[in-house]
Amino acid sequence: MNKYSAIRVGVGGVTGYTGMELMRRLARHPAVDIRLAMASSSSESKPIPALAKIWDAPVEPLDVDKLVAETDAVFLALPDSIAAEVGPALAARGTRVFDLSGAFRLRDADLQRKWYPHTPAGDSGATYGLTEHYRTELKNATLVACAGCYPTAAILSLRPLVAAGLLEPGVIIDAKSGISGAGKTPSERTHFSECHGSLSAYGVFAHRHAAEIEQEVGVPVTFVPHLIPIDRGIFETIYARLCAGVGPDQIEAALSAAYAGSPFVRLTGADLPEIKHVAHTNFCDIGWRVDRPGGQLVMVAVIDNLVKGASGQAIQNFNVAFGLDETLGLN
Ligand SMILES: NC(=O)c1ccc[n+]([C@@H]2O[C@H](COP(=O)([O-])OP(=O)(O)OC[C@H]3O[C@@H](n4cnc5c(N)ncnc54)[C@H](OP(=O)(O)O)[C@@H]3O)[C@@H](O)[C@H]2O)c1
Repeated sequence: MNKYSAIRVGVGGVTGYTGMELMRRLARHPAVDIRLAMASSSSESKPIPALAKIWDAPVEPLDVDKLVAETDAVFLALPDSIAAEVGPALAARGTRVFDLSGAFRLRDADLQRKWYPHTPAGDSGATYGLTEHYRTELKNATLVACAGCYPTAAILSLRPLVAAGLLEPGVIIDAKSGISGAGKTPSERTHFSECHGSLSAYGVFAHRHAAEIEQEVGVPVTFVPHLIPIDRGIFETIYARLCAGVGPDQIEAALSAAYAGSPFVRLTGADLPEIKHVAHTNFCDIGWRVDRPGGQLVMVAVIDNLVKGASGQAIQNFNVAFGLDETLGLN
């Protein structure tokens, strides 16, 4: 017999990449009863072949009243302009919201206006949803702004080192993402024949994830994202100068202390991780090398953008928010 009392859950954006990943994991979550699966009205009642025998009930058009009436918690896997409207409407009526979009991640009002112009002005009361660093805050959260995909790998790597005062100014994050990071609708940049067999940098000094990383790490960073021709996965190579006398032992000590109680962060030391080690999982693997004490640090961090970078992280946040084991539905 299941020892958990079921939490009634709805998913908005179920026909998208992260929405489908959410459904797959929530369907086997022992404390979840999926009640509603929603998308835009153009998807109404269309079957989703990838979710056969996972969700065979109809997909319904997004409906706030229905979500409030029939669920305790809602995952929003929607464009940020739609989440900006729906998230607060649900939270104001007592439904707990786990938003995968960026609509509520930035606390600085000017930065929020710049990067997420659809988000209503003022304090949304959202809790930033990077589980490993916000477990206490998540326990009482009503509106959770789940961390972005690139920021998850960068913040998990850098935040403990900056907090311990180990790094000199001038951090560089060379980040690469699989194409699913851009969602299911192809653009000229993400079309198969544009990206297959190629590699491109984009959003240099103009990507909203830089602001999110700086907010959570606490120092300026140079962030350069690239598209790589694989379907899923994020690979970040991070370059930083170490403070005088700092070597690999201090790096390891800071990261080990930060993640001792974190089931989804794996520290690999000098064995640098690869995307295939984490694909389809909720793990973030972090490795590092140092040329000499007080010299150059190179870190490599990998995640699956659709899992630890999106749906898995949202479920991890949900678990903590509802006082459940952090790993439920994720192993
Ligand atoms: N992809 C990633 O790796 C990733 C990682 C972290 C965070 N995120 C964020 O997560 C969110 C979802 O991303 P995604 O990649 O899953 O996007 P996606 O594949 O493009 O899917 C978008 C979903 O939103 C629905 N939708 C669009 N407009 C709607 C409307 N007006 N009303 C109701 N539903 C609407 C779509 O439904 P229809 O099929 O009916 O159009 C679809 O189900 C985005 O905010 C994204 O920034 C994505």
